[in-house]
This record gives sequence, C-alpha cells and structure tokens, in this order.
Amino acid sequence: MAATPSAIPLALAALFLLCFHLGVSECKDAAYGGHTHLAHGLSLSFYESTCPDAQSLVREHLRKIFLDDIGQAAGLLRLHFHDCFVQGCDASVLLHGSASGPSEQQDIPNLTLRARAFQIIDELREILDRHCGNVVSCADIVAMSARDSVYLSGGPEYAVPLGRRDGLTFASPNVTLANLPAPTSNASVLLTFLATKGLDATDLVALSGGHTIGRGHCASFTNRLYPTQDPTMDETFAESLTEICPTANTSATTMLDIRTPDEFDNKYYVNLVNREGLFTSDQDLYTDSRTREIVTSFASDRTLFFEKFVHAMLKMGQLNVLTGTKGEIRANCSVRNSDNVHLISLAEEDLESRAELR
Ligand code: HEM
Ligand SMILES: *[C@@H]1O[C@H](CO)[C@@H](O)[C@H](O)[C@H]1NC(C)=O
Ligand SMILES: *[C@@H]1O[C@H](CO)[C@@H](O)[C@H](O)[C@H]1NC(C)=O
Ligand SMILES: *[C@@H]1O[C@H](CO)[C@@H](O)[C@H](O)[C@H]1NC(C)=O
Ligand SMILES: *[C@@H]1O[C@H](CO)[C@@H](O)[C@H](O)[C@H]1NC(C)=O
Ligand SMILES: *[C@@H]1O[C@H](CO)[C@@H](O)[C@H](O)[C@H]1NC(C)=O
Repeated sequence: MAATPSAIPLALAALFLLCFHLGVSECKDAAYGGHTHLAHGLSLSFYESTCPDAQSLVREHLRKIFLDDIGQAAGLLRLHFHDCFVQGCDASVLLHGSASGPSEQQDIPNLTLRARAFQIIDELREILDRHCGNVVSCADIVAMSARDSVYLSGGPEYAVPLGRRDGLTFASPNVTLANLPAPTSNASVLLTFLATKGLDATDLVALSGGHTIGRGHCASFTNRLYPTQDPTMDETFAESLTEICPTANTSATTMLDIRTPDEFDNKYYVNLVNREGLFTSDQDLYTDSRTREIVTSFASDRTLFFEKFVHAMLKMGQLNVLTGTKGEIRANCSVRNSDNVHLISLAEEDLESRAELR
C-alpha cells in the first residue's frame, strides 16, 4: 500500500511526540513501535494526566528488584504472554480462581508461573495507588512490567500502548489449557494456533525469542530425552540435560538459553542453529522449513530480531483488550472489585455513616 501524502507527516509527528515523552536517548528504539496499529481505546499517553509518573514508578521498582534477582524479569515477561493468550490482556491471569491465578497455579504444574511475579504486580499496584489513586489497571501494570523486563535485561525499548481495563471473567482450566500451546508442540501446531490470534510465522519466531531469558522444569522438555532421544538435539547438550533430569519429572529446572541465560539478546536463535534449543516448540522452529530462515536471520542479526520482537509484542499486547467503560480497574489485582471484602466493607461503612447523618 502506498502511503497517502498526509500519512508520512502524521507518522513523523507521532514519532516526535513519542521521542518527546521518552527522551532523546530512548527515542531511536521507541521508533520500533512506530508502524503498529493501536487498538481502539489504547494510547501511548493514556495516563499522562491521571498518573504521569506511572511508567517511571514501575521501572524504578523493577530496577531495584532485578538488581537482586534478574530471574524475576523472565517471570514477569511470561505473565504478560499468559495473560494475553488467555481471554486477552485483561489481567485474568492474576485472579484468584483463574486456572493460573496466584492460588491455583500449583494445580497445573506445566503452567509454573512464578509466585513472586504475582507479588511484584501487587507491590506495583500499591505504589501506583499511593501516588495516583486507583487509576492504572492491573493489565497495564503487567504490560509495562513485561516491557521493562525486556529492556532491563538488555533488550529493546519500546512505547507500550496503555488503557487496558481489568476483566471480570475468570479463566477456567480448560480455557487456559486450550489457549496456551504445549512445549511439546511442533512448528505446524504453533503456526496454526498463533494464526488464530492473528500472529504470523515471523511473530511466532520472534515471540519465541522470549525464551532468551528464564528457566524451565524437566517435565517441560524430557519428552525429548525419554524414552528416546530427540535426533534434532545436540548429543552433548542432551547428555547435560540427562544429568539435570535423570527421570522425566525430576523437579529441577535449567536455563532456557544456555549461552546467555539472563540477557535479552539473540543467542536463543544461535542455540537453535546449534541444535541446543530446550523445548520441542523451540527447536522445531529451526527444523521446519517455513520458519528456519527466520531463525537464521535472527541468529545473525540482533537488530532485526529486536525490531520483529517489538512488533510482535505490540500485537500480542493488544489481543482482545477491554477499553473505555468495559471491565474495571481492580483495587486488588487478584480479586474482582465485586468480590473484594475490603471494598465491600468500606461501602457498608459508607452506607452506615450516611444513615447516621440522616
Ligand atoms: C510459542 C509458544 C510457547 C510455548 C510452547 C512456551 C512454553 C514455555 C514453557 C513450557 C516454559 C517453562 C515452564 C516451566 O517448565 O517452568 C516457558 C517459560 C518461559 N516462557 Fe514461554 N512459551 C511460549 C511462548 C512464550 C512467549 C510468547 C513468551 C514471551 C514473549 C514466553 C516467555 C517465557 C519466559 C520468559 C519463560 C521463563 C519463565 C521463568 O523463568 O519463570 N514464552 N515457556
Ligand atoms: C470450559 O468449561 C466451562 C465450564 O467449566 C464451559 O462453560 C466452557 O464451555 C468450556 N470451554 C472450553 C473451551 O472447553
Ligand atoms: C499440561 O499437561 C497436561 C497433562 O499432562 C496436558 O494435557 C496439557 O496439554 C499440558 N499443557 C501445557 C500448556 O503444557
Ligand atoms: C505436528 O504435530 C501434530 C500433532 O501432534 C501432528 O499431527 C503432525 O503430524 C506434526 N507435524 C509434523 C510436520 O511433524
Ligand atoms: C512422573 O509423572 C508421571 C506422569 O505424569 C506420574 O504418573 C508419576 O507419578 C510422576 N513421578 C514422580 C516421581 O513424580
Ligand atoms: C488481595 O486479595 C487477596 C485475596 O483475597 C488477599 O490475600 C490479599 O491480602 C489482598 N491484598 C491486599 C493488598 O489487600
């Protein structure tokens, strides 16, 4: 499609605005998001008047946490993925009673979201409430945290569209399982599945690059060791994994990226080219002819990977968002306001005090 005469100045003006908000040093990378369509109701300056410091408050808190434990960045990035794939980016992943919520997560071992990730979101909720009142949604807190996890681990910077609202619907176990691909999936299954979410082959390969940080449990990859060894896995790598996981469900974990486990870079793709991807869902991206060239291009060009990753994250981050007057802003990210005992008792007190005034 040829750009209309007015589209170019408009895009430049938008970029200028973005640069203005982020500061010049971060301007170049923010341009990565320049071509992405914004879902109706989302905006890059959503909290400009209601909570102007929202993004810096989130970033400073996370910066402190990551200094002690950079592993938490992986937990937060994965939380955003699970949130967006199951019912859309509506913070349903945080609800007590959802299949992957803070109390239920242990019930589905293969979901294995980090308990600390839920706590960090609660801490951010409290910090933002203290500074601005209850105006920033939990879904936006998750989205900002994912962006900062990428950036503070060495990955690209990008402007996050904001204005998501928190959902009222729990995600049941069947819905959760049906919407998260298993690590035993091959590229065919993944391509077909991601297409149902409007994500193409490049998006699939780029998003899988999220596995450049973080850890996985034996149960997520021992399908490649027992009963027979996956021929697409490097022998030496397989031996080291067999030591970590002497049985199929040893409770141990190992890093997803053996080269630079805590750094957000393109080494994940170098691993795949060297047959050192951890999950079937990772390695098969190199085996399958439809995704192989994308893998090799990212392995040799970090800038290209960052650009495609940001593009795909912006798409994923806007899946089925609730905006405007839909949903709510939760006072406590793990409970709906209508189930929040604290809010209910406050409302009752309010009624009582009004009754006394009469
Ligand atoms: C394409 C399909 C995907 C599959 C099949 C998949 C599967 C998995 C599995 C099985 C684990 C390890 C769980 C465990 O054993 O503890 C994991 C971890 C992780 N995933 Fe994915 N994932 C996918 C996509 C994504 C996406 C899109 C992102 C983010 C952009 C992502 C980010 C992560 C991160 C950061 C971790 C490490 C979490 C931690 O250390 O706590 N994954 N993934
Ligand atoms: C999941 O289960 C609920 C009831 O527990 C049912 O209403 C819903 O249709 C199921 N959804 C899928 C995708 O199976
Ligand atoms: C989780 O494990 C169950 C049972 O072992 C399996 O049916 C399901 O496909 C797995 N899901 C994911 C997301 O790994
Ligand atoms: C991918 O996995 C699906 C489901 O297990 C299977 O039916 C299909 O044959 C596999 N495709 C390839 C190319 O291995
Ligand atoms: C290993 O996993 C299998 C199948 O999920 C289960 O039946 C078995 O009890 C597990 N073994 C241990 C030691 O946890
Ligand atoms: C949020 O709700 C959960 C579940 O009811 C509760 O355990 C937690 O203490 C609440 N957090 C705050 C800050 O009130």
